[in-house]
Amino acid sequence: MPSGPAVWSGMAADHPGGYDPAALERLVCFEDFHQAAREVLTESAYDYYRSGALREWTLAENERAWQRWCFVRRSLVDVSAIDTSTTVVGQPVDFPVLIAPTAFHRLATPDGEVATARAAASLGTVMVNSTLSTVALEEVAATGAPRWFQLYVFTDRGLTRELVERAVAAGFTALVPTVDAPTIGIRYADQRNRFVLPDGMELANVAESLGASGGSGSGLRAFSAQFDQTLTWKDLEWLSGLTSLPLIPKGVITAADARRAVDAGARGVVVSNHGGRQLDGDPATADALGAVVDAVGGDIDVLVDGGIRSGTDVVKAVAMGATAVLVGRAVLWALAAGGQAGVERMLGLLRDEVADTLRQLGVPRVGDLTPDVVRPVGH
Ligand SMILES: Cc1cc2nc3c(=O)[nH]c(=O)nc-3n(C[C@H](O)[C@H](O)[C@H](O)COP(=O)(O)O)c2cc1C
Repeated sequence: MPSGPAVWSGMAADHPGGYDPAALERLVCFEDFHQAAREVLTESAYDYYRSGALREWTLAENERAWQRWCFVRRSLVDVSAIDTSTTVVGQPVDFPVLIAPTAFHRLATPDGEVATARAAASLGTVMVNSTLSTVALEEVAATGAPRWFQLYVFTDRGLTRELVERAVAAGFTALVPTVDAPTIGIRYADQRNRFVLPDGMELANVAESLGASGGSGSGLRAFSAQFDQTLTWKDLEWLSGLTSLPLIPKGVITAADARRAVDAGARGVVVSNHGGRQLDGDPATADALGAVVDAVGGDIDVLVDGGIRSGTDVVKAVAMGATAVLVGRAVLWALAAGGQAGVERMLGLLRDEVADTLRQLGVPRVGDLTPDVVRPVGH
């Protein structure tokens, strides 16, 4: 990196160092943002963002599974007024797409998570800030963006408690403990690259106590030895005791675990397999969603992420019973391609696609979507 902020080492050396609005306007879909990001990210950062666990079956299956559903369209409905807004665990959003917690946004853009948070705020949605943020949670909070905090529980429970207390003090309005990561999954590309954060970039929330270390494989995997593998659903009650914020466990994939979450006091669950990055062989989230909705949808909000690439995927998920979806890689690609403006453009396109899908489908309001407007392909 010859010039520019020292921390921007995720960028390829020939990146112009700024974002060209005209170039950004030519990006119109997930694949465009993905391609643009690939051109500017270092190989190691790109691989870290893209990869999934082991053979990446779950990663690919997440995308495929939404394509196994089609719509049951209603003709000649008054669709002159479209309403994409909804409320997710008490939080109003302008459209049912939230920003999933993903680590290390400074690999993509100098402002890192601050850029992401500002984009969430300007599009009227929530940013879920990762524990593994490269900007301190207090700085993310200072943007004023609607914000939830994703929590990894460390063996050092004092550190974990401190993180929760900081998130509460900084005005985060929900806690999202991740339940599908007893350790970070094995990702071949990261092993090959011996992934570590570049010099000048740090885990801003936990830097004093922990740091990505080198070693022979992925530094992140080595680091995750500090995740608490004794964690059980009972510990969710311990978390409830620390804060009155709603708990929304993320990484639930079965009806049985969703019920356990409700029993432990959860106010929502995120049906997720971590974007195919943890257990390769976990089912696609589109395939897991229905059973979770049947089990707990009447009691709490059910969110879903994984493989959401367009507005039709969003509408299918909500029709199948999700209150909203989260997007991970779509945000990372947009962040690399255009910083805050890139994420704003990507989210704006997604919002417009949701509105267009509702109009074409003959269901003017997100709140009116029901399971009978989708069916499995071929049935
Ligand atoms: C690069 C990357 C980093 C991630 N980091 C975290 C994290 O720190 N905490 C977490 O709970 N989930 C993390 N996830 C999982 C996302 O929250 C989300 O479940 C996933 O990205 C959704 O799939 P999608 O990328 O296909 O949209 C990460 C995902 C990616 C791609």
